[in-house]
Amino acid sequence: MIDRYGRTIDYLRISITDRCNLRCLYCMPAEGVDWKPHGEILSFEEILRLCTVMAGIGIRKVKITGGEPLVRKDVGNFIRSLRAVPGIEQVTLTSNGLLLESFLAENPALSLGGINVSLDTLDPELYSRITRYPGDTLFRDQGIPSILRALDLAEERGIPVKLNCVPLRGLNEAELPAIAALAKKAGRAVRFIELMPLGSANELEPIPGNEVAALLERAYGKLISYHGRLGNGPAEYFSLPGFAGKIGFINALSEGFCECCNRLRLSSGGMLIPCLSSESGTDLRRLLRSGVSEDELQAAVMETLDRKPGSHNFSERYQIERTKHVSGMYCIGG
Ligand code: GTP
Ligand code: 5AD
Ligand code: SF4
Repeated sequence: MIDRYGRTIDYLRISITDRCNLRCLYCMPAEGVDWKPHGEILSFEEILRLCTVMAGIGIRKVKITGGEPLVRKDVGNFIRSLRAVPGIEQVTLTSNGLLLESFLAENPALSLGGINVSLDTLDPELYSRITRYPGDTLFRDQGIPSILRALDLAEERGIPVKLNCVPLRGLNEAELPAIAALAKKAGRAVRFIELMPLGSANELEPIPGNEVAALLERAYGKLISYHGRLGNGPAEYFSLPGFAGKIGFINALSEGFCECCNRLRLSSGGMLIPCLSSESGTDLRRLLRSGVSEDELQAAVMETLDRKPGSHNFSERYQIERTKHVSGMYCIGG
């Protein structure tokens, strides 16, 4: 699939649920959200049918996201089926990590191309504040320590791990060097994502990637550009003295990486969305449930591809829509 800007689209991000066991400040409103009823969520069979159609026209890599993908039952079997779809070469997962340790234990031989885990802080109090997760004793044992154990377990199995951290002014600012230090371990990457004006992010203040870079350089020495390939996303990677792993920056606002965009997104409700910033998409659920043929599905995908914009409009949004609530990552699949 090649879009009207000449970009090859071979990567599909699939949100398998809008549900999440956290309520991150930058994603969900404080009052909570109404989850989609089960009937409005694509079944795994429907997703597999769509993936088969899309693999037929060029999708090679699939990212499973949410909400939190691991809150959905039977994800292990779903991933196994996805791996068997002809043409799909790699399946990766993005998770908040809270259920990852048990998921890996239940699925000892799962073939995953990588796992990305959100971790904005190592401090349990701050973690509770940012994720709005109750900071009780049970959670303290099962929360951050379990996430860190899960990272080790994945790596022992040869699954590359990346950590995602969203720097937030006045919240996790002082902790960024400690988070970065998790990349001292070989084969691991820690990425800093610029806060995007999605979901409930409008009341929060981003810390630009270049400021985070300067802070890390003061703590650890010079960042050296890394030109190798790590995954399929928009992150730019660097080495740091004494770090066996890499540091990445996803400068979603301050740098345009849209010219290299390689992806379409499928929401849990079956909307095929051309861009992270798109307000609308194609309702594939309705099509699937009205008994369409493979050719008709393929045509609908190509029509969505044709509507993929050249770039997102986040910078303008920061100006115009500061007070407006826009769909969070839990809706559109990070
Ligand atoms: P890999 O590097 O292959 O692991 O993929 P990834 O970085 O896309 O995966 P992940 O799910 O961890 O996404 C990290 C963040 O990248 C997302 O939360 C977004 O902040 C950003 N991102 C992903 N896709 C897009 C996109 O299409 N546009 C923009 N602006 N940002 C994106
Ligand atoms: N801006 C930047 N990153 C975000 N994420 C969720 N919402 C936002 C936002 N508004 C991040 C999560 C997760 C990744 C998939 O997206 O921290 O790691
Ligand atoms: Fe859940 Fe991810 Fe949204 Fe946090 S950012 S509430 S972990 S979907």
